[in-house]
Amino acid sequence: MAHQSALIAEDIEAYLKAHEVKSLLRFLTCGSVDDGKSTLIGRLLYDSKMIFEDQLAALEADSKKVGTQGGEIDFALLVDGLAAEREQGITIDVAYRFFSTDKRKFIVADTPGHEQYTRNMVTGASTADAAVILIDARKGVLTQTRRHSYLVSLLGIRHVVLAINKMDLVGYDQAVFDQIVADYTAFAEQIGLTRFTAIPMSALKGDNITESSEQIAWYSGPPLMRWLEEIPVEDDLREKPFRMPVQWVNRPNLDFRGFSGQIASGVVRPGDKVKALPSGRESTVERIVTFRGDLPEAVAGQSVTITLADEIDVSRGDVLAEAKAPPPVADQFEATLVWFDDEAMLPGRPYLMKLGTRTVSAQVTEPKYKVNVNTLEHLAAKRLELNEIGVVNLSTDAPLAFDPYAENKDLGGFILIDRISNRTVGAGLLNFALRRSQNIHWQALDVDKQARAAAKGQKARVVWFTGLSGAGKSTIANLVEKRLHAEGRHTYLLDGDNVRHGLNKDLGFTEEDRVENIRRVAEVSKLMVDAGLIVLVSFISPFRAERRMARELLAEGEFVEVFVDTPIAEAERRDVKGLYAKARAGQLKNFTGVDSPYEAPENAEIRIDTTATDPETAAEEIVAWLERGFDPGI
Ligand code: ADX
Repeated sequence: MAHQSALIAEDIEAYLKAHEVKSLLRFLTCGSVDDGKSTLIGRLLYDSKMIFEDQLAALEADSKKVGTQGGEIDFALLVDGLAAEREQGITIDVAYRFFSTDKRKFIVADTPGHEQYTRNMVTGASTADAAVILIDARKGVLTQTRRHSYLVSLLGIRHVVLAINKMDLVGYDQAVFDQIVADYTAFAEQIGLTRFTAIPMSALKGDNITESSEQIAWYSGPPLMRWLEEIPVEDDLREKPFRMPVQWVNRPNLDFRGFSGQIASGVVRPGDKVKALPSGRESTVERIVTFRGDLPEAVAGQSVTITLADEIDVSRGDVLAEAKAPPPVADQFEATLVWFDDEAMLPGRPYLMKLGTRTVSAQVTEPKYKVNVNTLEHLAAKRLELNEIGVVNLSTDAPLAFDPYAENKDLGGFILIDRISNRTVGAGLLNFALRRSQNIHWQALDVDKQARAAAKGQKARVVWFTGLSGAGKSTIANLVEKRLHAEGRHTYLLDGDNVRHGLNKDLGFTEEDRVENIRRVAEVSKLMVDAGLIVLVSFISPFRAERRMARELLAEGEFVEVFVDTPIAEAERRDVKGLYAKARAGQLKNFTGVDSPYEAPENAEIRIDTTATDPETAAEEIVAWLERGFDPGI
């Protein structure tokens, strides 16, 4: 027994050795189940014998049972069987499968179709060297073929194969193939996909998958597997300047301080001059430490810990870069954004942006345009919906070191995360930094917020009233202001109805307009707090995300949220302005509580139940709450 297991261990080692030297190709398959994607992947796995024996037996049995493929093995069952496993873990959207031939190792990212395909494709494509775009020979170039191709081109995948599948169902007719290639070429040129290889095949029958097909003698190009084995895997990341986003600062004791991360591009050696960004401080690489000992050099793709000769300040999320060729640093960018959440991207709303190892808060402006992927037309857009692609300006609340995506995917590709649901809602590519971001600096002034507020003997803050239309916000805010004013406080009341007559005259009540409405008011109240005032804000402000943005614009303790809690039935019964009646009659669109949502606060500092408290008492309570913090000494 012992002898046998030793043998197995040796075999495994020999096997791994043989595989180690082979190059690795990562590729992506795009298409739907109907195009035969599962069958194709199943066939690749089967032909490369990377299926476990027991799966194979089950597969043969299942194929007989189902019998749809006339006794042939149904390769789709294999992949769909694996898909069932992955469906148990709902977070994995892309299935990565490994297989290998004598020449090369492969990782195929199988991106499921359906409505979430954009998300899946972008996830799968971010690391892919090549893409296999499947076409059903009977159907030709479809809308989804164009979408997939557009994304493939956008994401910078340079090797593309057009797999024209199900040739058996069109009698292996060359005319059908030629027509599809002609159609596709016309489209591909427009999106800058100038080079692609078209292969006629049948995944089901095995034509042109691993072996050239006798049925398709008119085709002289390579079968798919050979194409996959022979395309060059570019290693040009090594040629680019050194960059390593810092994943974490490794400081086990006072004698050691290393910066750990995966090298995104270039080569690094001890003695190299490096720059830490965004700070711009320079130092020299002392050691490159790994688990197995120090290295004389490390290259793109490797995970290492670097120590520096000087004690410069470097934190997680910073980028270490070649001192002579550092990446630019900016906080405003033009970006191409792919949206993949059901909830639309709303300009002005803050999202978390993750670029490399850095996470910052970012806001997107109104799209410059969105792209109709079928016609490639540029269309005007106020927002981006599920699966839409647009070009936007983006501003971040902290400077970022980056490279344009076209130069470096790791330093130019980012994702956006919704701050409330934590969902990844979009992915983007940084195109370039906006000029203005380098030229406007925050002006430091000698007389500051504290000085101005102290001169007034008060603590500057924002008291933010939120609630339905007709809840009583303005009534209560007005009473609060009267009381504060009577006590000699310097106040200002910003009221939705009033501000919408001036500063926000251009805004209506769509979701994006409400977001912009609140963004502006939040910025104005921040300026007023800077002026030392107590600012009362009375806006419906229906969305949690924007109330949170307003809170985060201010310092800790400066934002006091007052939820004027009036049930919709009660607000509607009062209907002071007659707007509920109009909304119910369909004469007023997007009315809060009727056909536009209101997201009640979860952690408001003060909640007023207007069905139990009259406005005077409410105002008294709020003032009492505020007075506790008014003495600047407290
Ligand atoms: S918010 O949602 O963007 O915060 P805001 O407080 O500025 O709204 O304006 C609300 C006021 O506008 C309401 O009190 C009401 O008088 C008026 N109004 C007109 N149309 C609408 C609408 N569709 N939804 C809500 N309020 C509306």
